[in-house]
Amino acid sequence: MSLKKRLENYKKSNMYPFHMPGHKRMLDGCYQIDMTEVEGVDDLHDPEDVIALDENRLATLYGVDKAFMLVGGSTVGNLSAIYACLMENDYVLIQRNSHKSVYNGATIRHLKVGYINPKLDENGIYKAATLEEIKESVVAAKTKPKAIVITSPTYEGYYCNIEKIAEYCRSENIILIVDEAHGAHLGFHESFPHQAAGKADVVITSLHKTLPCLTQTAALLISTNRVDITGFREALDIFETSSPSYVLMNSISQCIDVMEDNRDYYDKYVDNLNDFYKIRGKLKHLEVISEEADKKDIGKLVISTKHTNLSGVELAKILREKYEIETELSSFSYVLAMTSFMDTKEGFERLKKALLEIDKAITVGEIKVPILYAVTPNKRMELWEAKTSAVIEIPLEESHGRISSTMVCLYPPGAPVIVPGEEISNQSIEIINNALKTGIHVTGLNKGRICVVN
Ligand SMILES: Cc1ncc(COP(=O)(O)O)c(C=O)c1O
Repeated sequence: MSLKKRLENYKKSNMYPFHMPGHKRMLDGCYQIDMTEVEGVDDLHDPEDVIALDENRLATLYGVDKAFMLVGGSTVGNLSAIYACLMENDYVLIQRNSHKSVYNGATIRHLKVGYINPKLDENGIYKAATLEEIKESVVAAKTKPKAIVITSPTYEGYYCNIEKIAEYCRSENIILIVDEAHGAHLGFHESFPHQAAGKADVVITSLHKTLPCLTQTAALLISTNRVDITGFREALDIFETSSPSYVLMNSISQCIDVMEDNRDYYDKYVDNLNDFYKIRGKLKHLEVISEEADKKDIGKLVISTKHTNLSGVELAKILREKYEIETELSSFSYVLAMTSFMDTKEGFERLKKALLEIDKAITVGEIKVPILYAVTPNKRMELWEAKTSAVIEIPLEESHGRISSTMVCLYPPGAPVIVPGEEISNQSIEIINNALKTGIHVTGLNKGRICVVN
């Protein structure tokens, strides 16, 4: 019996709760299945019954040896994967534009860190890391990395060639960890290839981002005999709450039911997407980026304003205010509309109609995408060393030559200009000032001040 079924039965039973949570299931809606680890509903941290069964179903679904349900998002998955696969002082190669949870994992585990630097496309979007870039970083490193952490697909949907990268990592005996937060929907239909699950040693995926599942739900998917499963369990005990939400776990259980039973959702979804992409022949100024399905997830609709007089941010504003369409993100020269198989035909039609109308009203132009990452980092300390040193806060303008203890990131595209342990250069100060002037969101500064090692 699945967890979902067990919770349904529990809800109908006459059991009185002299236990947590304090709402006592006396409120309606999701409160009715919000439980603690009582008899019959299993325990996420030591599953033996319905949760163990659902984790097995999840493993079968993704074709992996072992699956862990997560209720703290891919954030918990990345932290746990890094903690479990690596030991203090191990050398790891990560993508420079990794999510902060990857950086935090490397910091907490006191790792030595090197980088893989993927290229940007003409809209300033990070492409996926290529096998060649990975090989270059391995060759350039003084030590052989124990593990590599890459992101595939990227936020905007660029895939890595996971098959080739996994083969290479196996041949070099390097553990491959893939942050597949944006790709939980991959591998279930021929139009959505390159799923990492089952190919990489460890895969982290956010069920909530692209499948019908509640926010915070995710999965850790393991197919390796190079790392002991007990290590993952121990890591999850550290990073995941001791009171995992049954509402979230119920949602995972329900999502597994959907994925097992309703593959025809994908056919409708692909039909809708194919219909939508026909807009490309009708747009004069806007452009819907369309790499082959082999290179880019067709479900992430990237609408470029590069060759128009409208910025991505302005396009998103018009879509929101005039057409009541909210998009996932917008940047200098593009908007990302995220889709899933839960989107309706009507939704796609609304977006199409809106874009066609907007396209008619705009003219040719050229949106400049600033080059934000022309910086060559000079690493003076490891991340963790900078994070455990005494620090002082000084004005960014006076920080040239100091060692940063802060990560300074630009959003979009969401990658650090300065990483803890790196020397702050005039060039990085200039890039940050430029970004601020152009209206890019900069994280890591406190009113123009930066924390540096004292
Ligand atoms: C590439 C990537 N990895 C990991 C995460 C963290 O995922 P979650 O929000 O499920 O914790 C995100 C979040 O946006 C992400 O973009």
